[in-house]
Amino acid sequence: MLKNTDSHEKLNVVVLISGNGSNLQVLIDQMLDHSLPIKIAAVISNKAAAYGLTRAEKAGITTAVIDNKAYADRESYDSALQQKIDGFQPKLVILAGFMRILTPSFVNHFEGRMLNVHPSLLPNYRGLNTHQRAIDDNAEIHGVSVHYVTPELDGGPVVAQSLVNIKESDTAESLALRVQTKEHALYPLVISWVALGRLQLINNELFFDKEKLESPIVSG
Ligand code: GRF
Repeated sequence: MLKNTDSHEKLNVVVLISGNGSNLQVLIDQMLDHSLPIKIAAVISNKAAAYGLTRAEKAGITTAVIDNKAYADRESYDSALQQKIDGFQPKLVILAGFMRILTPSFVNHFEGRMLNVHPSLLPNYRGLNTHQRAIDDNAEIHGVSVHYVTPELDGGPVVAQSLVNIKESDTAESLALRVQTKEHALYPLVISWVALGRLQLINNELFFDKEKLESPIVSG
């Protein structure tokens, strides 16, 4: 990974979670060992019980809970969440297991500034239960995608993917473990590209090192 990034300005980010936060943990670790030039300004969860909040607190990172049950509808929730995020002035909003469908106005507000990690090779298997669906289809190859977020669920431009072979003996759980290992490598890599100014989304088109990216960057 990248080292000696101290001379480069750190990218101010906010991370949204709903659960365990294993992806968040990788970002915290790489922020702390200076291999990823980001500053996590805050971790925000829609669930008070999310273990990721504990991970953030242990690292001395500001946390907030905005409980969706306290809001009458999706619009009012997303508006409160947007205001909270804006208070930290992030250059990038990182969805790391944030299990909510977002309103178009929220997504458009963060256009070109919000990434998600999704456990499938998009456009295959948008939504939930991706591992079981891939197994049920007898797919041979599965994986993970990192994409910019647009109003279409799991439908934004895909920056990069890592591949995972499905074994005959795989269960959804065993496959999920191997996919998560790939997530933990791929997500910080893509975030580092944003931090170093190598990756941009302009008018819904991806640019990597100033060249238009016609298809996702794929690794094994
Ligand atoms: C990951 O599998 C990610 O692909 C999906 O949510 C999960 C979050 O896991 N969007 P964790 O909370 O980072 O452990």
